[in-house]
Amino acid sequence: MSIGAIWAQTPGAVIGRDGAMPWRLPEDLRRFASITAGHAVVMGRRTWDSLPSGFRPLPGRLNLVQTRQTDWSAPGAKAVFTVDDAVARVGGRDLWVIGGRAVFDLWLERAVRVEMTVVDLEVPGDTFAPTLDPSMWQVVSSDPPGGWHTAANGTRYRFDSLRRHDPV
Ligand SMILES: NC(=O)c1ccc[n+]([C@@H]2O[C@H](COP(=O)([O-])OP(=O)(O)OC[C@H]3O[C@@H](n4cnc5c(N)ncnc54)[C@H](OP(=O)(O)O)[C@@H]3O)[C@@H](O)[C@H]2O)c1
Repeated sequence: MSIGAIWAQTPGAVIGRDGAMPWRLPEDLRRFASITAGHAVVMGRRTWDSLPSGFRPLPGRLNLVQTRQTDWSAPGAKAVFTVDDAVARVGGRDLWVIGGRAVFDLWLERAVRVEMTVVDLEVPGDTFAPTLDPSMWQVVSSDPPGGWHTAANGTRYRFDSLRRHDPV
């Protein structure tokens, strides 16, 4: 089992505003679907709530929703209350931590990779990506290797893949 985290952020680290992502970027959603397909995903209950009802549970993936509400339930999702509880439910599958910030904070110390989409927008936000310690997290590839892709709607974006290298 391997644990990774995946998110999209602006250069200013915004990941959300008013319970949603403050941009529209189908190219990022397609990459998210391709990376997480067939695996388990864990998300915070607020992120679950942010998914349009037609898009949840995320198809083809085990959907774990982290909550403190012992009576929480939703069709197609499994409630988990702790990180260990979630790990126990995943079995041997790979697990992607898909946000939001509260859940990234709970899981990042267990993650070995981060897939980050950088969305080249300056937008206000109320939820921010965690700061990755550069002595521990290194970008191993960027797509494109330099500069940006330009989405059909004109938004510029880049995919960065990071790996954890624990200091010895
Ligand atoms: N840009 C991106 O890639 C991306 C990805 C995901 C989300 N987002 C955005 O991020 C925002 C949501 O993030 P968020 O940080 O506010 O919320 P979140 O992490 O999605 O969910 C928070 C919820 O998780 C549960 N939780 C938190 N700590 C817990 C713990 N220690 N044990 C058990 N359960 C715990 C609680 O659920 P209960 O209240 O039910 O107890 C809490 O309310 C939205 O704007 C969303 O659109 C952006």
